[in-house]
Amino acid sequence: MKEQQLFSTVEAYIRQLFAGESSGHDAEHTLRVYRTALRIQQEEGGDRLIVGLAALLHDADDRKLFNTADTLANARAFLSAQNIAPDTTEQICAAIRSVSFKGTDTQRPATLEGCIVQDADRLDAIGAIGIARAFAYGGAKGRAMHLPDQPPQLHMNAAQYAANQGTTINHFYEKLLLLENLMNTPTARRLAHARHLYMESFLSEFMDEWEGRR
Ligand code: ADP
Ligand code: NI
Repeated sequence: MKEQQLFSTVEAYIRQLFAGESSGHDAEHTLRVYRTALRIQQEEGGDRLIVGLAALLHDADDRKLFNTADTLANARAFLSAQNIAPDTTEQICAAIRSVSFKGTDTQRPATLEGCIVQDADRLDAIGAIGIARAFAYGGAKGRAMHLPDQPPQLHMNAAQYAANQGTTINHFYEKLLLLENLMNTPTARRLAHARHLYMESFLSEFMDEWEGRR
């Protein structure tokens, strides 16, 4: 099957899988990660088919939305229906497993394809889009935007990070501001820098307004 045709099929599958999801974890997030991952792949190399499919399927079995995280059943069902070869399927699944953020337990993916998809996923969590997603997520979970007497919790491991129910502003200090330095590829580090500066300027403006300095 031609690349374009395969990606149209997976796009339709993703839109149906994430229908009704509005916590910042929707089909549009996946499609942005896909476009960013292909842009990074163009500069960094790696297998384009694996990067594209891993990006498109990276949240298809996300623990927060589905109960298939251990088996990657949704991703596997799609790849099998498209007759993707077993070894390619395993490489895509390995890349998908390696992308998620787990606080201090996060590891650098073993393959270039995994590194690229992880970078693309993280780029979508920072900058203007990242700010919007963080507040959308916080709103969906009923979290406070900011509580000045609740300091951020740094250096959380995977379990602590997953159990954390803090404010959205704290999420910037607990995750989003750490991501620039965690980028795997030089291309993503370059893209992350501008987005990082934008978040810093947002936070400084937010605090100025909060404290009545503006
Ligand atoms: P992904 O699986 O795409 O890497 P996550 O599942 O960690 O991302 O989170 C989805 C989006 O919700 C991200 O933009 C992330 O920053 C945001 N988010 C996750 N946890 C929180 C939180 N505690 N407060 C605010 N935003 C959050
Ligand atoms: Ni994602």
